[in-house]
Amino acid sequence: MRIISGIQPSGELHIGNYLGAIKNWLELQKNSKNECWFFIADYHSLSEDYEPKEKSKEILDLATDLLALGLDPKKSVIFQQSDISDHAALAWIFNTIVKVSELERMTQFKDKVMVQKQNVNAALLTYPTLMAADILIYKAEAVPVGEDQVQHLEITRDIAKRFNTRFEKTFPEPKPILTETARVMSLSDPTKKMSKSHGPKSYIALNDSPETIEEKIKSAVSDPGGKGPGGANLLSIFKSFAVTREEKTEYEQFNKDHDAGKLMYSKFKPRLAELIAGYFAEYRKNHENLAKDPDYVKKVLEDGAEKASSIAQKTLKEVKKKIGLTI
Ligand code: AMP
Ligand code: TRP
Repeated sequence: MRIISGIQPSGELHIGNYLGAIKNWLELQKNSKNECWFFIADYHSLSEDYEPKEKSKEILDLATDLLALGLDPKKSVIFQQSDISDHAALAWIFNTIVKVSELERMTQFKDKVMVQKQNVNAALLTYPTLMAADILIYKAEAVPVGEDQVQHLEITRDIAKRFNTRFEKTFPEPKPILTETARVMSLSDPTKKMSKSHGPKSYIALNDSPETIEEKIKSAVSDPGGKGPGGANLLSIFKSFAVTREEKTEYEQFNKDHDAGKLMYSKFKPRLAELIAGYFAEYRKNHENLAKDPDYVKKVLEDGAEKASSIAQKTLKEVKKKIGLTI
């Protein structure tokens, strides 16, 4: 099965990104039957307000993070989106078969318009056609993402279907692959999804020190004695990071207490913080080492781009022929 997914370089990774998407990437690349493609969606990230001086560092940091988490260039093709200009060319072609009204209906578009009222650029609207191109240019069949991207995959399938009908059967209709925790909620407002845009207290970054994690979990909204979304979110985070038998048993007990309305947050929260900090200990060490060798990280992306570009060029050539551009 050919699998693809991307992630934007726009600040630090948080446990929502990890539990919603990257955890699955690491699982999927283990199966040698899968052909995995993962990329840094730098073109997409330009649709949000950004600082040009910081962008290249964000790209390099994200690549370093992904390698430190265990993405393996021997098992997966890892590359930078903007290295493959064919994505943008295919997105343009898709723009001609998608309707403005379909794009305007996207939840993420509506949310982002509210967040950056001063910068409602056209790329915010056409974001899903570039995403469809990212996926379909490799004829990928499955896309591991968080729940917030499911709607973009629906429109990707619509685009594929429409192209196949209007021209000639060319693309598969890719499906999302979701984790158990496809929607991790914010620590400060558990009715919203965890996101960088709600401030550092609302999320746990993978690079947070054990002390910072403890502080953030301590101030996370919970639901003493009740059944609010804060408690459920913290418990599901505990469940996702419980790996050993003991940790799983511990989770069962905390969960029972929560159901009975008598979870002791003074005990639960420090354990949760400890669990998360421990889970990412190896990552933090790997990250420290890899950060000393940016040339290696760049080389991984260069090699990845080389592999990606040959497939992307082939698809674009096929598409151009089918739509009548080849003379
Ligand atoms: P982004 O940072 O928006 O590029 O997101 C990268 C990946 O993380 C995508 O697959 C998202 O769906 C996923 N993701 C982002 N935030 C969350 C969240 N709060 N819960 C689960 N998955 C998430
Ligand atoms: N839109 C995705 C996000 O915000 C990132 C992304 C861009 C992506 N292109 C993609 C994900 C293609 C999967 C496949 O998280």
